[in-house]
Amino acid sequence: MKEKENELRIVDPSFGSRVLDLIMDINYLRRRQLGGSTHPEIFFQIKHIFHILESIGSARIEGNHTTIAEYVEREIEDSENEDEAITEIKNNEAALSFIEEVIETTPINRAFVCELHKLVVKDLHREGSQTPGQYRNTNIVINHSKHTPPDFLRVNELMDELIAFINKPDPEKYDLIKVAIAHHRFTWIHPFDNGNGRTVRLLTYAMMIKMGFKVDNGRILNPTAVFCSDRDAYYDALQRADEGTDEGILAWVEYVLSGLNDEISKIDNLLEFDFVKSKILLPALKGLKERKIITTEELKILNKAAEKQEFKTSDLNEIFPDQNSVYLSRAVKRLRDLKFLKPIEENSRTYVLSFLKNYLMREIMICLDREGFLPMKNEV
Ligand SMILES: Nc1ncnc2c1ncn2[C@@H]1O[C@H](COP(=O)(O)OP(=O)(O)OP(=O)(O)O)[C@@H](O)[C@H]1O
Ligand SMILES: [Mg+2]
Repeated sequence: MKEKENELRIVDPSFGSRVLDLIMDINYLRRRQLGGSTHPEIFFQIKHIFHILESIGSARIEGNHTTIAEYVEREIEDSENEDEAITEIKNNEAALSFIEEVIETTPINRAFVCELHKLVVKDLHREGSQTPGQYRNTNIVINHSKHTPPDFLRVNELMDELIAFINKPDPEKYDLIKVAIAHHRFTWIHPFDNGNGRTVRLLTYAMMIKMGFKVDNGRILNPTAVFCSDRDAYYDALQRADEGTDEGILAWVEYVLSGLNDEISKIDNLLEFDFVKSKILLPALKGLKERKIITTEELKILNKAAEKQEFKTSDLNEIFPDQNSVYLSRAVKRLRDLKFLKPIEENSRTYVLSFLKNYLMREIMICLDREGFLPMKNEV
């Protein structure tokens, strides 16, 4: 192999290439101001669902076959005895929250990467690590892959180089290429004894937020969908990059960027309330009624709540002109007790629809699946 072929470097796409078009498209989405009409409380809950989906997706690459349905059942029942598969998913969720909390003030350095690893393998045995939060001190192989990672003695130096590469202030136009190249380089080095895939997918998430895909002003990112919906395609694309040639690296970059572009454009729809209402919330409520979890009257109330986004008991007067306010307040209280409605603030009498930790969450996931938001098919 030529010396250059192992060198960590930016590869320039040619002017007419698809990679260049993708960079322009994604940069447009990065700069676009988000002023969505979906209520922040509703958006926040949908975002939480995406954290869960992202985590299930990441945990499913090898070995862990927990389905969305199983996970939701456990969320609803708040089951105490967690098995390893559920812990793996929860760990990923915790790591995503950690990233969002600290990313504005924390550099992407060795301590940060090691912290991600520690969170990912916490309390795991089968999918855990001998040395959580520390680079490996043995040589390893990657299952189902032809690539043999470098000798453990070189990990330190190679990771220092990678971290310097990530932080080097190159022109902004290279940001996305660097995200893709860093992802491959990380798994190529395979700095940890296990959990490298889960850690690097989180690193990609962190890099994208740092690059300006801010999640706190309302964007949802699900890069895992790119890597985890088709494991064979992911492994094949990584293998192209293993070749170390400009062509191999650009093929990998194109794979990553086209996946990210599809994902980001699709998910931005969730900022449009008309879309969320008609394609997700109302059909999900209908599903709840069909399963006889709520009554026809309750469906009407929740539909109203979905339509108004912020909703008060008095909003029900038009749909139930014959009922008195005590009766309606009781009906609303029951839905609040069932956690399908929640006050926008403590003690407030204004409510929003609530769908975390209840059966509406499952119906919402079914609707997200129908609209093509779930990478894994037929698992809800
Ligand atoms: N040819 C390859 N070159 C570089 N990296 C690869 C290659 N094939 C697979 N990988 C990476 O190795 C990861 C698997 O390594 P490891 O078992 O340490 O990670 P994990 O997080 O435990 O597992 P998983 O990614 O399956 O959830 C894959 O997710 C992928 O990121
Ligand atoms: Mg593993």
